[in-house]
Amino acid sequence: MTDGEKPTDMLRDEHKNVLQKLDALEDVINRLHEKEAVAAQRKDLASFFNTDFWTHFAKEEETLFPELDKFIPRESGPVGVMLSEHDDVRKTNAEIQRAIDEYLEGSGSLQTVTVIQNYGTHFVTVLRDHINKEDNILFMMADMHLDKTQVDTVIKLFDEIEGSAEKGRAPQKG
Ligand SMILES: [Fe+2]
Repeated sequence: MTDGEKPTDMLRDEHKNVLQKLDALEDVINRLHEKEAVAAQRKDLASFFNTDFWTHFAKEEETLFPELDKFIPRESGPVGVMLSEHDDVRKTNAEIQRAIDEYLEGSGSLQTVTVIQNYGTHFVTVLRDHINKEDNILFMMADMHLDKTQVDTVIKLFDEIEGSAEKGRAPQKG
């Protein structure tokens, strides 16, 4: 391990921020009858779940997971599960963001509200559980197995991904 902060600690810190945003999203889902309250939260949540959040995923998928692949097979191990949950969350997020925009523009029907509630509840539930598994299982495995060279590689790539994101090229995948 390096003398500095571990990459898993950096990701754990980001998870704390994600969990706060999930609380805010849950609040929006529970207050859909108060349009002004939803509008007030909208900008912050949209900016987070359309940009920063994908930078976090990119850091896991493009740096940490490939290093974990070197000692646990992706298909049969936890990395495969994490990736399928990332896909689930990506698709669900796209539906929620679109529905919240429709709702705020006034074009939202009862169906739009139902989409926000159903997809939103699924998103919050899956992501909280996902973060719990990463923090307490996957990252602990990484802490045990990654050697210093791997840790240094991950940290270097984190910097590159953050640099790209700051240039407005948030590395969101389809
Ligand atoms: Fe994560």
